Amino acid sequence: MTRDPQFLISIVSADDIAADLRELGALLYACVHDGASIGYVLPFSTADSEAFWTGKVLPRVRARALVLMIARKNGRIVGSVQLDHDTPPNQPHRAEVRKLLVHPDFRRQGVAKALMEALENRARELGRSLLTLDTRTGDTAEPLYASLGYRTAGIIPGYCRDPFKDKLDPTTIMYKAL
Ligand SMILES: CC(C)(COP(=O)(O)OP(=O)(O)OC[C@H]1O[C@@H](n2cnc3c(N)ncnc32)[C@H](O)[C@@H]1OP(=O)(O)O)[C@@H](O)C(=O)NCCC(=O)NCCS
Repeated sequence: MTRDPQFLISIVSADDIAADLRELGALLYACVHDGASIGYVLPFSTADSEAFWTGKVLPRVRARALVLMIARKNGRIVGSVQLDHDTPPNQPHRAEVRKLLVHPDFRRQGVAKALMEALENRARELGRSLLTLDTRTGDTAEPLYASLGYRTAGIIPGYCRDPFKDKLDPTTIMYKAL
C-alpha cells in the first residue's frame, strides 16, 4: 500500500472486488454517465456496471493476469486503474494500462496521478519496462498521460463509439518506457 497526503492507494484482491462491488460499480457507472469513453455506451445500468467488475475484472485478477488498484479517500473508493500484464511470450517486458477512472466528484485532486505512479511502480516490480495504452483523442486523459511522460505513437480515426451519440471517435495510442 502507498500513502500519499490525501489518498490511500491499494491493490485489490479478487475477494475484495466482491466485497467492494457496490462502490466499484458506482465508480464505473458515474464515469460512463459523465461521458467517459471507456468501453461502454448508454443505456448503461448499475447491473451492467457491476457485471463488468464480476465478469471481466474479477476472473482476470484471480488468474493473476491483471492488477487492479484503487484509491480511497476517507474510506470511499474514488478511483481505480488496471495493469494488464497478460502479454504474449514475445512481450514479457510490456503491459497495458486499462480503465483509469476517477469519480467525477473527486477530479483535479491528483487521484489519477497517484494511481498512475503506483501502477508504474507495480509494473516495474513485475519486470515491465514498456507501458502502452489508448485513450479517446481530445479527452482530458491525454494531457494527463502526457504530463506523466507518455508519448503519442499515433491516432486511429473512427476507433470507438461515443457513449451518448451515434458517432465514431478517434483514439490516441500512447506509450512510456519505464
Ligand atoms: C482522466 C482522469 C482519470 C483524470 O483524473 P484526475 O484525478 O482528475 O487527474 P489528476 O487530478 O491526477 O490530474 C493530474 C494532471 O493531469 C492533467 N489533467 C487532469 N485533468 C485535466 C483536465 N480536465 N484538463 C487538463 N488537464 C488535466 C493535469 O496536468 C493535472 O495536473 P494539475 O491538476 O496539477 O494541472 C479523469 O478525468 C477521468 O476519470 N476521466 C474519465 C475516464 C477516462 O477518460 N479515463 C481515461 C481512460 S484511458
